[in-house]
This record gives sequence, structure tokens and C-alpha cells, in this order.
Amino acid sequence: MNKGKTNNSHAQIKALLRMEFAEHGDRVLDVFHGNGLLWDTVKNSVDVMVSGLDKEQYTIGFSLLGDSAKTIPNIEVDSFDIIDFDAYGDPSPYIDLVSRMIATEKKVFFTFIQSMYGGLSIECLAASGISQNMKKTAPALCCRNGFNRFKRYLSTLGVLEVVSINYHRKHYGFFTLPPMKVGQNRHA
Ligand SMILES: C[S@@+](CC[C@H](N)C(=O)[O-])C[C@H]1O[C@@H](n2cnc3c(N)ncnc32)[C@H](O)[C@@H]1O
Repeated sequence: MNKGKTNNSHAQIKALLRMEFAEHGDRVLDVFHGNGLLWDTVKNSVDVMVSGLDKEQYTIGFSLLGDSAKTIPNIEVDSFDIIDFDAYGDPSPYIDLVSRMIATEKKVFFTFIQSMYGGLSIECLAASGISQNMKKTAPALCCRNGFNRFKRYLSTLGVLEVVSINYHRKHYGFFTLPPMKVGQNRHA
């Protein structure tokens, strides 16, 4: 794990959020699995099956080893009910990938953390009409109100409601992700 990054800050809040919306029998794809502690906690209350993916090898807990950006396109995402993005930063690029692959709606959990210096993805910024060039020119300005920009981005995916618990720069949440409509042109 990178120095300075905490895998499970607000662990109880994250677990409670999942216990609220996960249902018995749900199949979970956890694309930032870590050592799996979060879903292990949830499993004490809800009977779910979890498949984990992480770019780092942990000594406890099992996950498929790989970078989510490269691995998600090779996964049968529609065989899962829940996709979990418990990320360190802005999970928009990964949500984007999944949204392009699904034929049925998914329950989604996320962690969105805005870094001091912005760090919003181009997927997220594009939904606010901000280009790569604009971000390069004025990163702090472009990345202001990151969580609002993230929610605007989600609305371009057809997400109607986001439930979230917010602590300063850290946001933990849930929404339902619909499949893309034929001919849908996002971030326009
Ligand atoms: C906040 S932690 C997740 C903690 C996890 N929910 C648990 O129960 O332990 C974020 C994890 O994402 C992983 N990660 C970060 N970027 C990744 C990527 N591009 N692909 C796969 N895993 C990634 C990190 O190695 C770290 O384990």
C-alpha cells in the first residue's frame, strides 16, 4: 500500500452503507478490494458473494491481481449485481468503463476523495464542460467543488439519485447505474 493512504478510514460508515443496500444473494465485484476487510465485515450481516480485484498483492484476503483499468474490460460485469469502487481518489474512469459494458442496471458503492490539488479525472471534468487543456491551464479552478462535478458526471450516465455521507473531502456513497441507452452521447 502507498505511504500516506489509508485503506479503511471511516470503515464502519462504509460497512453500514453497504449493509443498507446490499441484499442476500447479491454477487459483488469489488474492483479496489485491498485485503477485503470491508466486505468481510458486511458478510457478517448480509449473505453476499464477493469477487475482488486489486493491483497490489495482499498477504491476507484473496483477490485477483491486476489494474482495474486494464482488467475490468475482460470481466463479465453483467454477472454481478453490485460493483464496488472503494477508491483513493476520483473513481469516474472506472465507473465509465463499467457503464459502457452493462446490459442491466447495477448497484454501485463508491468512495470519492478529492485531493488537495484537485486531481479530478477528465471523464468527470468533461461533464462540466472542462477540457484537458483547461485543466492544464487552471487545475485548481477547474477542480473546485469536485464532488458536485462528480455528481454532475453521474447524471450524464443516467444516475437519478446519489446517497452519500460526506466528511470534508471524503465522500462515501451509493447509486443505481443504468445501462447506456442506444445512441446515448454522454459528456456532451
Ligand atoms: C481504499 S483501499 C480499498 C480497501 C478495501 N475496500 C478493503 O476492504 O480493504 C483502495 C485499494 O485500491 C487499490 N487500487 C488503487 N488503484 C487501483 C487500480 N488502478 N486497480 C486496482 N486496484 C487499485 C489499492 O491497492 C488499495 O488496496
